[in-house]
Amino acid sequence: MQDLPSDRDALQALLDFHVEAGVDLALDETPHNRFAEPKAEAAKPQAPKAPPAQPAPSPRALPKAAASAPEEVASLAREQARHAQSLEELEAILAGFDGCALKFSAKNLAFADGNPEGRVMLVGEAPGADEDRIGKPFMGRSGQLLDRMLATIGLDRSQVYVANIVPWRPPGNRTPTPQEIAICKPFIARQIELASPEFLLCLGGPAAQNLLGVKDGILRTRGRWFTYKADDGREIKALPTLHPAYLLRQPLQKRLGWRDFQALRRALDGRD
Ligand code: URA
Repeated sequence: MQDLPSDRDALQALLDFHVEAGVDLALDETPHNRFAEPKAEAAKPQAPKAPPAQPAPSPRALPKAAASAPEEVASLAREQARHAQSLEELEAILAGFDGCALKFSAKNLAFADGNPEGRVMLVGEAPGADEDRIGKPFMGRSGQLLDRMLATIGLDRSQVYVANIVPWRPPGNRTPTPQEIAICKPFIARQIELASPEFLLCLGGPAAQNLLGVKDGILRTRGRWFTYKADDGREIKALPTLHPAYLLRQPLQKRLGWRDFQALRRALDGRD
């Protein structure tokens, strides 16, 4: 194993480097040098083959529901989400739901932010590190850009409701898997139904594809109005737009995001 630097600043820089690279989850108490292990194994005298050892029970072993077949868990999620009669109940049910493995690596459930009575609901993909730490969606740099974009059309978080299709942070900010999304989908569907906004803004491709059933990428669907059909039959006007994290990486595309926000403003003003 490489020697660790001994001074505090160098250690901090090493830690920052790992966090920047997305390595922000410690899975074990002590690091393993995987390069050295095979050599050490080869150097050992060959003992007669023992029967395979039973894996030691992990303290972070997933509860049974998270380890079941995804379709079974998704149907359990649908059943549980249907029971919620208010957003508070839904959050409590989700907090007690063990069917999505992301819950066990996340620090917090990031259920929602803003005003559920607002006319607009915005739905993103999944929480990142800041959202996971604080327990609310869109708290980091993407959230700050989102707030600035909302401000350009005279809105702030006291007037809009914000959530994600997946409410737990995927480790290292990876994209949630189709299974994770399928398991969480009944909850976001019920959340939209209970908040019952007039307008739904889908932030980024995964939100647009999973909520609106569109196959095209976000650059094709953004700026076009769709209809979101809630499970109770209600129809909500929905607009896909570029995700603020994408706009941070591609600042030239902000003009497209700005156009979409202008379209939302016009719709809110009944000028469509
Ligand atoms: N990106 C998202 O999609 N959601 C958040 O809450 C933060 C970043």
